[in-house]
Amino acid sequence: MFRTRCWCILCAVLGLAVAWLLTGAPAAHAQSKDAPKGPVSFINDVAPLLKENCYACHDSKKKKGKFELTSYETLRQGGAKDDPIVPGKSKESLLIDVVTMTGPGRMPPKEAGDLLPKEKVAIIAKWIDEGAKLDAGIEPKAEMLRELRIRWKPPIPPVAYKFPVNVNSMVFTPDNKKLVVGGYHELTQWDAATGKLERRIFTRAERAYGMVFLPDGKLVVAGGRPGQEGDVRIYSLQAGAPKDHGGVPSVDGVNDKSVMVQELVQTDDAILGLTLSADGKKLAAAGCDRLVRVWEVPSFKADPPIENHADWVFGLAFSPDGKALATASRDKTAKLWDLAAKESLLTFPDHQNPVYAVAMTPDGKLGISGGEDGQIRFWQATDASKNIGKQTKNMQHGKAVFRLAMGGDSKKPILASCSADGTIKTWDPIAVAPLKTMPGLVDWAYAVAVSPDGSLVAGGAWNGEVRVWKTADAAQVTVLNASPGYVAPKLAAKEEPKKK
Ligand code: HEC
Repeated sequence: MFRTRCWCILCAVLGLAVAWLLTGAPAAHAQSKDAPKGPVSFINDVAPLLKENCYACHDSKKKKGKFELTSYETLRQGGAKDDPIVPGKSKESLLIDVVTMTGPGRMPPKEAGDLLPKEKVAIIAKWIDEGAKLDAGIEPKAEMLRELRIRWKPPIPPVAYKFPVNVNSMVFTPDNKKLVVGGYHELTQWDAATGKLERRIFTRAERAYGMVFLPDGKLVVAGGRPGQEGDVRIYSLQAGAPKDHGGVPSVDGVNDKSVMVQELVQTDDAILGLTLSADGKKLAAAGCDRLVRVWEVPSFKADPPIENHADWVFGLAFSPDGKALATASRDKTAKLWDLAAKESLLTFPDHQNPVYAVAMTPDGKLGISGGEDGQIRFWQATDASKNIGKQTKNMQHGKAVFRLAMGGDSKKPILASCSADGTIKTWDPIAVAPLKTMPGLVDWAYAVAVSPDGSLVAGGAWNGEVRVWKTADAAQVTVLNASPGYVAPKLAAKEEPKKK
């Protein structure tokens, strides 16, 4: 049950559901009306249908039936049976045959899902009857996914949220005073002492999954739209000309180049994890495409991507010297990668379940990983010991551990974790011992942050709630709902985390 919900957080289905709740219409369809009144456009009307229903088996890797749907050109080349389109004659076109037939050969194949609804087939048929033309300004060879991305316009976040948006990531500002939280197509900045909303920064990305501040004070954000696109972008939070949005100064991080100062990468699916080395000279990100990308800071020269995991990569952490990178993956392993030698140093399989988060102790001796099995596991990371990759200790969280955050200095580091058990916990990573359990959240906790000075811990939950506590005694500093304008129904004081 948990699994369903957890995958959902990261999957397109929920993305659409959230978009529906917030805007009243699914985002993916916002621009392609079911029945176009004028001529049907390939890129605006037909390509989104092919992408959603066919691309999984007809991309450049799978090419089922030797049929590739990566561009208009490959669509018209067809597969074993040549061009599936007879322009002007939808009834004679194989493309329409396969999406309307019910027996063998139907597309998508029976085991892959339902046939397209009639109205969708009608769109494709109308386009063929109108001549199956490619829109002006697009090259036949142009990559379809890229063209779709270029045309997609992010919605403006609601003035006041009707439903809370779950908190996927958070970070304290370098001065320990503010908290930046990922929302729906925006970042929100809050005063960590008072819980006051200070600024909204609109983003192209629907969600932020990872955030780190660079030594120069700019914020790197990794995220995307699940199943659609992913990105890593750099923001200057205090730049731009703020406009009023629901009584809060808001800046345009989509179009204003002084706010969104640089884009490091664009991908076909979400980026889920982001980390910066201790010396601030290396940045790494990874996600659904399994590739781990590493950049030099501040030149942002990219190393060749590392392909080391068999499934999504959720989390990453540099070794303290920046020479190795630890990764956590849905393939049920954590790994450590030597960046110079470009080789795997160890694979840690003990979670036997998806691994969501990874960290390293400040002395670099131990790796720390958290996963679906509800455990935080410590393992030998240096080759000084023959036991490299072997577990040294595990600590129980109860339910799935989604993220780990490290703060404080190397002498007194604080490790914090967030979990499906609805708690934020702190740990002493040197003594490998539990410290505190932060009280108050009543829903699954997906985000956690520790202030750079280690004095504050923040947790964020599925229901949009964010709480800030003092690390020392777990005393609550503030509570807020990170969905601007949202008024939460009153919660029972002792409500257990919901089981859905
Ligand atoms: C689950 C995988 C899967 C999905 C999804 C899928 N296909 Fe296919 N497709 C196949 C396979 C496998 C073949 C080859 C089988 C065959 O030739 O009978 C094929 C063959 C075809 C062919 C014939 C190519 C040729 O020239 O022989 C066409 C056209 C086609 N698919 C169109 C589509 C369309 C349009 C969609 C989306 C509505 C779609 N497919 C979705 C797996 C898939």
